[in-house]
Order: sequence, then structure tokens, then C-alpha cells
Amino acid sequence: MPMKAVYIEEPGKIYIKEVAEPVAAEGEAVIRVHSAGICGSDIGAYRGTNGLVSYPRVIGHEIAGEILSIPANSKGLKVGDRVVVDPYLYCGHCYPCSIGRTNCCNDLKVLGVHVDGGMTEVITHPAEMLVPIPDNIPWELAPIAEPLTIALHGIHRLGLKKGEHIAINGAGTIGLLAALSALAYGAEPILIDLVEERLNFAQSLGVKYCINLKTDDLLEKVAEYTDGRMCECVMEASGANSAIRSTLDIVCHAGRVVLTGWPSKETSLPTDYITRKEIDIRGARTSAGEFEEALELIESGRVNVRAVLTKLVEVDEAPATLEDISANPGNYLKVNVLF
Ligand SMILES: NC(=O)c1ccc[n+]([C@@H]2O[C@H](COP(=O)([O-])OP(=O)(O)OC[C@H]3O[C@@H](n4cnc5c(N)ncnc54)[C@H](O)[C@@H]3O)[C@@H](O)[C@H]2O)c1
Ligand SMILES: [Zn+2]
Ligand SMILES: [Zn+2]
Repeated sequence: MPMKAVYIEEPGKIYIKEVAEPVAAEGEAVIRVHSAGICGSDIGAYRGTNGLVSYPRVIGHEIAGEILSIPANSKGLKVGDRVVVDPYLYCGHCYPCSIGRTNCCNDLKVLGVHVDGGMTEVITHPAEMLVPIPDNIPWELAPIAEPLTIALHGIHRLGLKKGEHIAINGAGTIGLLAALSALAYGAEPILIDLVEERLNFAQSLGVKYCINLKTDDLLEKVAEYTDGRMCECVMEASGANSAIRSTLDIVCHAGRVVLTGWPSKETSLPTDYITRKEIDIRGARTSAGEFEEALELIESGRVNVRAVLTKLVEVDEAPATLEDISANPGNYLKVNVLF
């Protein structure tokens, strides 16, 4: 049966397309999609600014749905179970796959980026890449588990500990979820952005320390908030070159930096800072086993993901909504599509 999919034919051209229902390959489940999130990378796919995307493409990698069919699997998932999708495919035999780091496979394929995604009525996906959703998380919130795993993966790559300061560049969905997760860890987030509304919003959710680069002196404020020490942890979640550069200024001696943002251009760095301060710098790509924790944080309310949900739309409204997010990004954090 033909079904509706949110389809980008080429940059700037998005519409609902009727596509054929997929057929499961070996090891795959068939999933009836109930909700899917619109992510910054979907906007990048629409604008043509996400260099990883190939076209045409069905977008969407923040996906929740119900299992229609599934082969035997290690989690005991069965028909009718509600699941979120860990949205990538890996080769299984390259070096990172061989050491269990499948999220940075040499040939990683992310749904909605390298292969067709989940903003459609029915998808197929490897049964082992599905995670059960607790009963009390509604469809409208479940897809937010995916961006929350990105935030958590950055935090885990940093090894953030209770009581530590974590400066976060970017108060978008990822940076804000990282700040809320840091609070859940008992750490002290310092959120940095240029958009006052985003910082005010974060403050209303309990993020005490915010820095607006337009009006505040970054180094002075970080020094003030950390009693002169600077930050044990810094997470780059903006993708801006200047923000990547400033991580080396705001991290303390013997501190750690994680790079989650995707810059579109190369950044020049004074590497003598890395040597002098003995900074540990790590990358963070997608997530690695963080879905269960993300769902637990949502279920318990320790991270209030409803607060980041700006709007819910029906699938037919998705293309126009995506165009509006692209034109007025400041008006939105997370928008989810219901099927
Ligand atoms: N590593 C991964 O697997 C992964 C996954 C998802 C997203 N990302 C990347 O993470 C970044 C954040 O994603 P998002 O969805 O929250 O994006 P977003 O566009 O919603 O948020 C980015 C925020 O950064 C702010 N910003 C811009 N320039 C800045 C600067 N110089 N200093 C501080 N803040 C600045 C913007 O005002 C905005 O609020 C993006 O680069 C995205 O591509 C990476
Ligand atoms: Zn995303
Ligand atoms: Zn691999």
C-alpha cells in the first residue's frame, strides 16, 4: 500500500510524497510510526547546508512507533510493543565496530541523512536497534529521547561528575537538553548563546548561569561563575567556529572538552593551549547505549522534555512547518510530527 512520507527532492523542495511500504530484510522489524521529531539536521537537509545528506531523501531520525512484525531478538521485543529507534546502521566489521563503538563505524549510515528516514507511516529497522518505551511516556514526547541521547553521549564522553562546572556552547535543543541533564547529574551548567530568548528560557527551567555573548564578557563571566577556576568540562553544541575556538579559553587546566556540534568549516586552534593546560579533547557522534537512560530521565521527569517541545503537527503540516522553522529558527526548539 502507498503511504505518506516527508520528502526532500532537492534542497529547498520539500513535500509529502506517496511511497511504497518497505519490506523487512533479514533481522529487521517493521514499525508503524506514531511520532517523529524535526531536528536541526532535517532543517540543514532542507537548506542544503548539511554536507552529509544525499538527495532525494525521506527525512527523520527521531522516531517512535509500534512493532508490526519482528524476528527473534535479544531484548524479547514483540509485536505491539512501543519502541524508539536508534537511528543508524553500521557495517559490523570495521575497527570501531569490532571494539563495540558502532556509533562511529567507518561506514555509518544515519536515517534521514545517508539513507531514507522515519518521517513516514511505516519503516523497517534492525530489531536490535529498537528500545522499548515505558508505558507512561506519550507518543508526543517519545522521539525526544533521541536528541537527549546526543546530549547524554557528550556528557558521558566528558565523564561529567557531580559538582563540576560544564560550560555548554549553544542553547538549542542539544545544548539545553545537555544543561538539563547536567542538572540531573548534580553538576553546574553554564549555558552560552547569542539569543537572549533562548537563555531566558533556559533560566526559567533552572539553568542558573547563562552567558549572552552579545552583552557579556565570556571569560569574565566564566571566571565569576567558577570562582576563577574556569570549567572542568566544556561541551561544544553550536557548530560555530568561534565557539569551538573559545572552548580552549573557558576550560580549566587539566579540563575536558567534547565536540558535539558539526561545524561546516575548519577551525584554527592555538594548540599550545592544549599542551599548556593539558586539555583532553574528545569527539561525540550520535550515541552509544544511551537510550535506556534517556527514557528513564524522561519517565522520571528528571529531565523535563515537555518543556523543549514547541509544537505538535500532523504529517500533512510537516513540510510547511519545516519551511517556517528554516525561515524563523528562533521561534522553535523541538517540533514533533504525529502520524
Ligand atoms: N554529534 C552529533 O551526533 C550531533 C547530533 C545532533 C546535532 N549535532 C550538532 O549539534 C549542534 C547543535 O544542534 P541543535 O539541534 O541544538 O542546533 P540549534 O541550531 O538548535 O542550536 C544551536 C545554538 O547555537 C547558538 N550559537 C550560534 N553561534 C554560537 C556561538 N558562537 N556561541 C554559542 N552559541 C552559538 C545558536 O544561537 C543556537 O541557539 C549542531 O551543530 C548540530 O549539527 C551533532
Ligand atoms: Zn537529530
Ligand atoms: Zn563498521
